[in-house]
Amino acid sequence: MNCVKCKTKAVIGLPRHNAAFCKPCFNEFVHDQVSRAIKAERMFGRADRILVAVSGGKDSLALWDVLLKLGYHADALYVDLGIPGYSAKSREEVERYADRVAKPCHATLLIHTVQEEEGAGIRELADLINRPTCSACGTIKRYQFNRAAVEQDYDVMATGHNLDDEAARLLGNVLHWQDDYLDKQSPSLPASVEGFAKKVKPLYRLTERELAAYAVLNRIDYIVEECPMAKGSKLLLYKEVLNRLETESPGTKQRFYWGFLEKQAKARPVPTSMAEKDQATLRPCATCGQPTTAETCSYCKMMARAKAGIPR
Ligand code: AMP
Ligand code: FES
Ligand code: ZN
Repeated sequence: MNCVKCKTKAVIGLPRHNAAFCKPCFNEFVHDQVSRAIKAERMFGRADRILVAVSGGKDSLALWDVLLKLGYHADALYVDLGIPGYSAKSREEVERYADRVAKPCHATLLIHTVQEEEGAGIRELADLINRPTCSACGTIKRYQFNRAAVEQDYDVMATGHNLDDEAARLLGNVLHWQDDYLDKQSPSLPASVEGFAKKVKPLYRLTERELAAYAVLNRIDYIVEECPMAKGSKLLLYKEVLNRLETESPGTKQRFYWGFLEKQAKARPVPTSMAEKDQATLRPCATCGQPTTAETCSYCKMMARAKAGIPR
């Protein structure tokens, strides 16, 4: 198998593109897919300051790496959730990458430690308020990502969600006809109101397999294990189903998700209508000031319940 671009020996085959690449041409392919995503969805420009949420996994570390290699001003935020046997290892990978690659590029790593800031690790917090760990974790991460971006004046917040993540999420939203979630499922969400950072997903054109290959080929160490709390999650099941379809019919995932994006773009101009909707429904949280649809935001409600030690 030879590289379709330069005809030297290929290191990876990409059935969905009917292509194979050697290492330099594969890196070029990955960089090109990210650049296309940034341009197509008007994510950010050269002058913007980007905050990448890095988990220690392959996707977000690859994203940080690609943005730095493309010459963007990209800092990163790691949220240490205090999950025994998982967080320490993922933090180590993030810090290792930051020391080895990011700091020499003048990029900064910010760390938010849940144990210190919220007063307990995510599992204890979730137990205190009687909620599944993943749902409490989602609330804290969303809140802290947005807060860091807004308080430290970043123009945009980027996450490492890839094509597999987005296609699986779309499948879940369609299976349950979650109209509100479908409306908001976009690779680029504008800063619709004061206090909300713009959020983007520059990896939506690349698969999990391609990002794992990018990390390995470029010697980016990452935590291979999934978070132990994610076991049995519906999203993993949807990914398995889509992988099965992809094997039988390469390109299924991209046709499914990109097709959705095309239809969504034709149906309505997402940024405008969403911004209008948000402006009509959001107001500052009475406790912290972040935009919310209720009197108090879900993060502040959660923290108040945890402090009082009472279940919902
Ligand atoms: P996940 O929901 O675990 O698939 O993660 C999706 C994206 O959220 C990752 O690609 C990261 O960009 C971000 N992320 C997840 N966990 C963390 C974390 N602990 N700290 C910072 N960013 C994270
Ligand atoms: Fe949030 Fe696992 S990463 S519970
Ligand atoms: Zn609040």
